[in-house]
Amino acid sequence: MLRIANALEAQLRAAMQRAFPEQAAVAQAAGQCLDPQLAPASKPEFGDFQANGALPLAKPLEQPPRAIATAIVAQLASDPGFAELCLEPVIAGPGFINLTLRPERLAAEVQARLDDARLGVPSAADAGDGQGGGAAAAPVVVDFSSPNIAKEMHVGHLRSTIIGDCLARVLAFRGHPVLRLNHVGDWGTQFGMLITHLKQVAPQALETADAVDLGDLVAFYRQAKARFDEDEAFQSASRDEVVRLQSGDPVSLKAWGLLCDQSRREFQVIYDRLDIRLQERGESFYNPYLGDVVADLDGSGLLVTDDGARCVFLEGVSGKEGKPLPVIVQKRDGGFNYATTDLAAIRYRLAAPPAGDGARRLIYVTDAGQAAHFAGVFQVARRAGWVPAEAQLEHVPFGLVQGDDGKKLKTRSGDTVRLRDLLDEAVERAEADLRRRLDEEGRHEEEAFIQHVSTTVGIAAVKYADLSTNRITNYQFSFDRMLALSGNTAPYLLYAVVRIAGIARKGGEAAGAVDAADAAGGLHFSEPQEWALLRELLKLDAVIAEVEQELLPNRLCSYLFELSQVFNRFYDQVPVLKADEPARSSRLALCRLTETTLKLGLGLLGIPTLERM
Ligand code: ARG
Repeated sequence: MLRIANALEAQLRAAMQRAFPEQAAVAQAAGQCLDPQLAPASKPEFGDFQANGALPLAKPLEQPPRAIATAIVAQLASDPGFAELCLEPVIAGPGFINLTLRPERLAAEVQARLDDARLGVPSAADAGDGQGGGAAAAPVVVDFSSPNIAKEMHVGHLRSTIIGDCLARVLAFRGHPVLRLNHVGDWGTQFGMLITHLKQVAPQALETADAVDLGDLVAFYRQAKARFDEDEAFQSASRDEVVRLQSGDPVSLKAWGLLCDQSRREFQVIYDRLDIRLQERGESFYNPYLGDVVADLDGSGLLVTDDGARCVFLEGVSGKEGKPLPVIVQKRDGGFNYATTDLAAIRYRLAAPPAGDGARRLIYVTDAGQAAHFAGVFQVARRAGWVPAEAQLEHVPFGLVQGDDGKKLKTRSGDTVRLRDLLDEAVERAEADLRRRLDEEGRHEEEAFIQHVSTTVGIAAVKYADLSTNRITNYQFSFDRMLALSGNTAPYLLYAVVRIAGIARKGGEAAGAVDAADAAGGLHFSEPQEWALLRELLKLDAVIAEVEQELLPNRLCSYLFELSQVFNRFYDQVPVLKADEPARSSRLALCRLTETTLKLGLGLLGIPTLERM
């Protein structure tokens, strides 16, 4: 209903300007306009919207707010556009204006959505969206997942992958070109250690593809790190190796390439299972630009040499003893840091093509522990003058994944949980649940059906559990909770879709029924449960716009959960299939729109739906 809300807001503003021209002139002189303060109604019995704009005018106008509201309402009465949208406004409390949309307008909105594959969600790419086709053409970067080569992908990366994928889907659906970038940790001193160690203990890993698997590689990396910390000869050999790698020595480069391939293949297995598409652009990509970053910062006078290291001191951020904190750009030994690479990445992503991505919104999905890193890097990029005024740099932080006990997620033996095992367990448990249910219901199903449903439900449960909590808080991983058939879970929503689709099917081709309603003069609604469902359905565009802005997938989850509950109330209390025409067709149309809305919403969460389960 965003379009209606926008139209209403304009009508209200015009009415305020007509009612209080002098006040409007004062606001305009200050570069503002009178604000109707339009918001969704706080309770359904108050209608659809409320406008609170009369209250703040009481003081400057020296009038009681109810009188101000009355004057605004009087002006609205002379606007034919308003009369088309709303019933007679009601002034309530100290001076709120309650607004109820005309039932025929609401029905017309539902009708329009039934015929629209986008379900009323505007695309930024469309002209006339108000968001401007020009601005929409600049890509949005979503930097997510981003595991590290030769290390296991862990649950933190899983969260980043699931949340980042959902945000990328929402942004793409809203019509933005999205660059889904996997900023893998594929460069740096760890390769010096790893290659040096492998040369001695497993040289075949550096010459032949697939000679070791990722598990072994992780173990080798641990050993290499331990040796590096203890053994000085090993340290200097590792440093020499890094220099060789960075100067493009073919043997070192080949070894590095093989190690990356090995990890990449393992990561891909996880991405395939989760249906995640990513463009890999690891840290190494920015290697050729690191020198330019340093030169740029030096040129703009930001660089300070402190104890041999070249750094930029942050403004407004201080560490221990109130000393300003630096972002170290180049270490004493000449090496570069994680932060340097991120500076190069920002510079590249914002630069105009072909020398860059020309993006105007950069979104980074990582654990909250990296908040200070991003705040520092963003500040340096701004001060360096790389960030155009209209560009947005956003860190999207998330909390830790904890076990049932509220502690860091671990296996029973205390090891870190491998993602592969975690997904396997979710699917196995979903399968056990399904077989139990089939037994109870005395149903027989093909093995292929069981496998398909268990896989879909298991993966969906893991994704949904992650997306449905506010990402900022820590999140307790619990197979039991995420696989429950009731509550705000994936199985509940998938089941709701199956059930509603079934009703629509039984209605004897819902699509045909809707055509019949068309022919019979459109949709007709009379029951409060129908209006409640319809109003809930019409919120979709606002919810998506909110996720696009605030980057909180849990808002979409709460909406889908609420929608299925409102649907259940409707279906429990109002006959659908047994109703007479035209109610039957109109109610079936609501069923069909609920089904498509849930499917679309789940799709944006990265969750495919099932026909049966
Ligand atoms: N590789 C990093 C890690 O595992 C995450 C990278 C996030 N993206 C970025 N541009 N820094 O923590």
